[in-house]
Amino acid sequence: MTHLEKLRVGVVGVGFIGELHARIFSEIPTADLVAVADPDKERAKKIGEKFQCRYYQDYSELFNEKDIQAVSICVPDRYHLEPAIAAAKAGKNILLEKPIARTVEDAEKIRKAAEDNGVRLMVAHLLRFDPRYVQLHDRIQRGDLGEIIHIRAKRQNPKSIQDRLQGRTSMLYYVGVHDIDLVLWYTNSEVEEIYAKKVSKMYKEDCIFVLFSLKNGVVGSLEFSWSLPESYPSGIWSEVEIVGTKGAGHIDICDQGLVLCTNGFNFPDTLHWPEYNGKIFGDLRDELMHFVEAITNHKELLMPTEDSIKAVEFIEACLKSIEKGTPIKLG
Ligand SMILES: NC(=O)c1ccc[n+]([C@@H]2O[C@H](COP(=O)([O-])OP(=O)(O)OC[C@H]3O[C@@H](n4cnc5c(N)ncnc54)[C@H](O)[C@@H]3O)[C@@H](O)[C@H]2O)c1
Repeated sequence: MTHLEKLRVGVVGVGFIGELHARIFSEIPTADLVAVADPDKERAKKIGEKFQCRYYQDYSELFNEKDIQAVSICVPDRYHLEPAIAAAKAGKNILLEKPIARTVEDAEKIRKAAEDNGVRLMVAHLLRFDPRYVQLHDRIQRGDLGEIIHIRAKRQNPKSIQDRLQGRTSMLYYVGVHDIDLVLWYTNSEVEEIYAKKVSKMYKEDCIFVLFSLKNGVVGSLEFSWSLPESYPSGIWSEVEIVGTKGAGHIDICDQGLVLCTNGFNFPDTLHWPEYNGKIFGDLRDELMHFVEAITNHKELLMPTEDSIKAVEFIEACLKSIEKGTPIKLG
């Protein structure tokens, strides 16, 4: 009988997504959730007790735990730099929630800290584990669509997301980064020019629309919004449409195959982190399992750090374009 080696993991920041990370690490057979940390003392205690692991208010105590081999950092994007660097210095392999950081400068510091300390780093870009988006990517790579001509993506959410985040981050960092990474991943190119506009009638950002061209001649657009009415039946409405010289691909995620009609229509999540048979399944679980397997068996990580930095470069150019009211050319 072979002994199953489990990766010993800690989670830093156990809010919305961090609690899901903690739960998944406690459920998958290849990992052991050893500890969680959160500056909100009550939150750390609640999650630690829920998943029967150690808990700390100060993440440096978690990093001092010798038996922890990897950490998942799930703090808000504006705080990524400090714990990511501290984790690297403590010799922990790192799964860092997207975006890697708010600026390319900070992102480079995180990459350097990981390299200098010989730890592995993966930024958690969920669409790279979503079966719909990955299959379309593989078809593009195989040449089924020919040479790409144009690409369009959108990600819209109800306005309650603004009530939760209270203007603490931009929609480009919180949701847009998914599709920005997707555009660069699908087209395998780099940005040439970006023109972004925002509307703020209800909140700081109601929507951001972006037009862009890439160095390989592809043109495209992105539509991000946090303005859907609360009566909207699903939490996310995302789409991508990509057209090439030989074919086209289209993903439209409005409902996810399950429609409930109780108090109005509802399209529950069936693919990101649905709960059934007493566990969390979906692409978030696949992403965490991939990270654990790659660290344990010294395999390649599916999300190159370089790509996560290019997504931040794209966002910085969008924000600059919004501020200046003009298109921005990149290197
Ligand atoms: N992959 C996805 O689909 C997805 C979904 C949601 C959020 N995220 C990402 O996860 C991260 C967290 O987002 P969230 O919505 O869970 O945020 P959140 O506000 O719900 O939770 C953040 C938690 O971190 C804690 N925290 C705050 N400052 C900290 C610090 N300096 N050190 C340690 N902990 C700190 C807070 O007390 C809170 O419990 C962000 O980077 C976000 O973009 C990814």
